[in-house]
Amino acid sequence: QREDNDRFTRLIEAQEAAAEHFVENLRRHPQAVDYLKQRGLTGAIARDYRLGFALEAWDDLSQVLSGRFNEEELQTAGLTSRKEGGRPFDRFRGRIMFPIRDPRGRTVGFGGRLLGPGEPKYLNTPETPVFHKGQQLYGLYEARKAAPRLEELLVVEGYMDVIALAQFGLRNAVATLGTATTRDHLERLFRVVSRVVFCFDGDAAGGKAAWRALEQALPTLRDGREVRFLFLPEGEDPDTLIRQEGPEGVQARIQAAQPLSDALLEGLRRRHDMASREGRAALGTEAAKLLSTMPEGLLRSQIIGDIARLSGVSTEQFERRMGAPGSTAT
Ligand code: GTP
Ligand code: MN
Ligand code: MN
Ligand code: MN
Ligand code: MN
Repeated sequence: QREDNDRFTRLIEAQEAAAEHFVENLRRHPQAVDYLKQRGLTGAIARDYRLGFALEAWDDLSQVLSGRFNEEELQTAGLTSRKEGGRPFDRFRGRIMFPIRDPRGRTVGFGGRLLGPGEPKYLNTPETPVFHKGQQLYGLYEARKAAPRLEELLVVEGYMDVIALAQFGLRNAVATLGTATTRDHLERLFRVVSRVVFCFDGDAAGGKAAWRALEQALPTLRDGREVRFLFLPEGEDPDTLIRQEGPEGVQARIQAAQPLSDALLEGLRRRHDMASREGRAALGTEAAKLLSTMPEGLLRSQIIGDIARLSGVSTEQFERRMGAPGSTAT
């Protein structure tokens, strides 16, 4: 236990030291600063989010940290990589660095974006003992710091979305790290606020991500919790939208975001042929599976009534199809 703690602390110290060095690099490399300026970011917001730069070099960070951390530690921290049998090299090269902080503000990992074209556009820290991608929410620490009493959190797709929104005064956005929203993410969000608004990119991937988030949200919807969806215009993401419409425009869209129950019914109708009994029955079957994951409550009862009507059966017939609340219909 004691050893685990020491090891944990060492790994976080390595991330902190790396973040500090990346900030130093940014200060000294105008091409990285120019990139941020060209993306419309201010120096102040770059400081708030502790943005940095990893040089286009194989061992810049390794050299700097080698006095304080050994090869194995840097490897475990995900700061270096190595090919089988080869020497370790810096994992992040030629990238703008976004430190990902835990609830206490300690850097536990990074996202890094290439300055120019290339693949992969973003690179994240791999899974490490202190960094679990499926649990992290980028920007949550910063959002809580900006407003001690948050009412609502906005979930967006990207690092740049979080930062652009914050720069325009919407300091309550967080992002998953390029991964699908999990139930764990939702539970974490609901520990902080009672309303979550998903705001994914206006493209096919964003639409799929929204449906997946809806499925994950259903089991977490206890009374008093609310989820909404904001669908962006085709081709836009929150970063591009706030630059076009300003904070007032985006704020108005957030106000008008669609309640989860509407998104659910609309999504189900879209996915099935409402003109045939077969289609309506299939809708009922899919809805039964989804609703059986939802905790009991008035919202659930209302949705059940609406779905029964849509699928052309009585509420009792539909509930029988669904099975007991919390169980999974087959
Ligand atoms: P910009 O082009 O900088 O505006 O980024 P974006 O956030 O708009 O990118 P996009 O909508 O393509 O992706 C959303 C999020 O998915 C990013 O912020 C990343 O977290 C993640 N992502 C995008 N591309 C990659 C990639 O190539 N690899 C990985 N691991 N994640 C990615
Ligand atoms: Mn893990
Ligand atoms: Mn996208
Ligand atoms: Mn995007
Ligand atoms: Mn973008």
